[in-house]
Amino acid sequence: MARQLPLGVLISGSGTNLQAIIDAIEAKRLDAVIRVVISNREDAFGLVRAKKHNIPTEIVDHRKFPSREAYDQALIDILEARQVELVVLAGFMRLLSPVLVKAFSNRIMNIHPALLPAFPGLHVQKKAAEHGVRFSGCTVHFVNEGCDEGPIIIQAVVPVYPDDTEESLSARILKEEHRIYPGAIQLHSEGRLHVVGRKVLVDNLEKEENQVLVNPPLKG
Ligand code: GRF
Repeated sequence: MARQLPLGVLISGSGTNLQAIIDAIEAKRLDAVIRVVISNREDAFGLVRAKKHNIPTEIVDHRKFPSREAYDQALIDILEARQVELVVLAGFMRLLSPVLVKAFSNRIMNIHPALLPAFPGLHVQKKAAEHGVRFSGCTVHFVNEGCDEGPIIIQAVVPVYPDDTEESLSARILKEEHRIYPGAIQLHSEGRLHVVGRKVLVDNLEKEENQVLVNPPLKG
């Protein structure tokens, strides 16, 4: 049996990405085990999802800590006690301090609902729809000390249409998030990801050089 990569998943809300990771593990598409789910909010629905699958949960309320660093140290203590090797941010609505980023250097992943480096930050599906881009998507990246800036692991592209709303585009992107996040974690579990400067090199990468998308499509 393949080695099960020990994960710590950090959430703040609904946890549909957490669910996708749980489902991928249960379907044996992902060689990992979730050692702990940590939420900064006690009402995060992701906690209910974790409990349903008998995954240990912790609530660490950021309002109870004097500084970002003190909060992040509390997270590190839990993650280390559970011997977590990869930290997975899944809708965790907090910026990480260098304390946490250094403790898990190139061992923290995040998913962002846009094609980075376009549209970093918040409310990016709305921004992409309003900007009139023809494509958007999602990005899984390693977390560095910048916001949504770390080396990119995998991206999925979806079309954007002029009548898209924040909701319709978010739903189209979210569906792809649920595919690529477990996929990115599996690549890490297989030891195939190597960060070299800004780039993430993937062992045995298959190239599809003719994979071109055009929107609106050109006839003929
Ligand atoms: C997702 O859109 C993700 O890209 C962003 O936060 C949202 C989390 O959704 N970072 P969920 O809690 O996984 O449903």
